[in-house]
Amino acid sequence: MLTQPLLKLAVSPALAEFAEDVRVGLTKSGQREILSKYLYDEVGSALFEVICLLPEYGLTRADTRLLRTHSDEMAARMPLPAHVAELGSGSGKKTRWILRAIACRQPTFYYPIEISSAALAACEKELSEIDLVHIVGYEKPYLEGLRAVANRREPGESICVLFLGSTIGNFDRPAADDFLRQVRAILATGDSLLLGTDLEKNTEVQLLAYDDPAGVTAAFNMNVLARINRELGADFDLKQFAHEARWNAQERRIEMHLRSLQRQRVEIPGAHLRIRIDEGETIWTESSHKYSPSEPIEMAARTGFRCEAQWFDEEWPFAQNLWIAE
Ligand code: AVI
Repeated sequence: MLTQPLLKLAVSPALAEFAEDVRVGLTKSGQREILSKYLYDEVGSALFEVICLLPEYGLTRADTRLLRTHSDEMAARMPLPAHVAELGSGSGKKTRWILRAIACRQPTFYYPIEISSAALAACEKELSEIDLVHIVGYEKPYLEGLRAVANRREPGESICVLFLGSTIGNFDRPAADDFLRQVRAILATGDSLLLGTDLEKNTEVQLLAYDDPAGVTAAFNMNVLARINRELGADFDLKQFAHEARWNAQERRIEMHLRSLQRQRVEIPGAHLRIRIDEGETIWTESSHKYSPSEPIEMAARTGFRCEAQWFDEEWPFAQNLWIAE
């Protein structure tokens, strides 16, 4: 640990939280970790957009295909929502289909909820010209943003929550249930949730999706160390780390790690931290859980919803699940 207060400057609450999370994650006994939400600074969000274009990463195309093909049916099966809240809208590109299908039935408020201001701005620009849609962005954590949306609801109005792209897979299974229960607690009976889930597939295909030959996912993963260097004044030598994607068969998830290529010391002044990392040791940066086709039905029942319908992609095993709050 560094004892002298190296950073005397006033830091924002967000930066202080980042520093604390980095300090806690990197000093964990056993497996060190950096929370996956920190992959998404401006550079990380841009790299993620490129990942979505990679031939090896079929997830986003499957998600979009299902929305493009079945949006009218999806909209027809949800209680007509006046408010559509999207958790983690990203650039908003795939949202256009479902939003159009909903808004052609009645004027709709659309609330992208994002912690990345750059993604929020891109999303507002992308969707601004859809008729009868009024966009109100929230730069907030998911549940805080959703509570703000629920507070705008007038009696008799319904909310539809979009949680696309299998972002739910970035939560551990128990944490996912807990999160979905909290979403349900904010909603009212009859509100809907459209949940995208990436399904388990051939291990080689899954691994390539998270370790592409062009190295975009490696850059996305590595950027979190570069971010710690930029924002917390650390001296991670990126050349001394390698990107690694692993399939954890027991937990049915892809894990991303950063493997140390030699025994090394790292100093992170902004987190008042100095660590020693062994050769071969890894820092765990993300989990992407994969699901069986029936798992979303069971998850719905456990978390206060019922699964009204599912749509499956034929090219890349992926499901859109329409849930109704019970
Ligand atoms: C955002 N999330 C669903 C992506 C995933 O597949 O877990 C993030 C990602 N990580 C590496 N590639 C894509």
